[in-house]
Amino acid sequence: MRVPLLDLSEQYRALSEEIRAAADEVLASQRFILGPKLTEFETAAAQYCGAPHAIGVSSGTDALLAVLMALEIGLGDGVLTTAYSFFATGGCIARVGATPVFIDIDPETYNISGPGLRRYIDKNCHRVEGRLVNENRQTIVALVPVHLFGLCCDMNEMLAVAREHNLLLIEDAAQAIGADYPRDGGSAKAGTMGDAGCFSFYPSKNLGAAGDAGLVVCRNEQFADRLRICRQHGMEARYQHQFIGGNFRLDELQAAILKVKLPHLDGWSAARREAAKFYTDEFRQIGLDKKIKLPVEPYAKSKLTNHHIYHQYVIRLPRRDELRQHLGEHEIETAIYYPLALHEQPCFEYLGYKPGDFPEAERAARESLALPIYPEISRKAQQYVVKCVAEFFK
Ligand SMILES: Cc1ncc(COP(=O)(O)O)c(C=O)c1O
Repeated sequence: MRVPLLDLSEQYRALSEEIRAAADEVLASQRFILGPKLTEFETAAAQYCGAPHAIGVSSGTDALLAVLMALEIGLGDGVLTTAYSFFATGGCIARVGATPVFIDIDPETYNISGPGLRRYIDKNCHRVEGRLVNENRQTIVALVPVHLFGLCCDMNEMLAVAREHNLLLIEDAAQAIGADYPRDGGSAKAGTMGDAGCFSFYPSKNLGAAGDAGLVVCRNEQFADRLRICRQHGMEARYQHQFIGGNFRLDELQAAILKVKLPHLDGWSAARREAAKFYTDEFRQIGLDKKIKLPVEPYAKSKLTNHHIYHQYVIRLPRRDELRQHLGEHEIETAIYYPLALHEQPCFEYLGYKPGDFPEAERAARESLALPIYPEISRKAQQYVVKCVAEFFK
């Protein structure tokens, strides 16, 4: 039995008429850039997230880049972030001329470690005129936590650190649209708690476009205006460029398709969560939780619906590569997110990190394995995955 890592064809079949109609409408209008579909999607996305402002952009990468540029983060600045994420998180910080300052992860959640963050600040930073300055004389201006695999970071701690040290807080919520975090007795959605939240609608995301697409949400109206200008090369009045931005626009076709898909997102995330529960229950039932580390659900008790949106179902074990090979031989697709921690990437060699600097991120890169998960995955396919994992340990 072949089990793909992800198969969204059923999802498309169910919505194909609506998606085609929406795309046809855009084609008939011949309005492709900054038109009504973008506004409609932005309004719907802002409402869904519970954020006052949403700005459609060309990708998750460009969401991060536009935010960093609009905040004028650059040369001489240090930006704290996780050592374990997709490249764009660190790449965008470096692209604006700032220095990514990596922090190790919590081995349970794979998200940036709160204690690790505080340890770095206490050990390596001092205060100069109210600003945090590190050992390399970079002014630490921002913190970019990533809600990895669909689980929110410890945002209370992130917000506390940001407040204490006067840092901008930019949430990389590329993998976590709709994920809830327990806050003030209620909940808040990923991306809405900091100064800006960045989302990716890369096709494989829980909410995927038909190409590249992204979004920024924020609370501050002036900042939202600045981002809208930033996504048009910093242009306010026509051909008058107030500051340097880029072409970060979300096009009408993508916006129209995303608008059709958005109302289904919570249903898809619920189906992913059910699939995750099935894996976890099955693995536990046959005692495999003693051999592989299963995903944790730190906010499950808070009774939040989307306490985890399972963008990925990630297990870990020391013999990861062998298991991956075994599953591959049984036609089960898996993925490694990510085989290298960010400080291990060749392009970041110039930052001077060495092996062992972030042991948990390095260990996760060696041991983590994403199993097939998507809303429509059948229990039969999952049973087959569990059976093949069990066979591996026999
Ligand atoms: C954590 C994280 N940040 C940023 C991005 C960049 O998003 P995009 O691929 O839409 O540019 C991704 C996409 O995979 C991601 O997973």
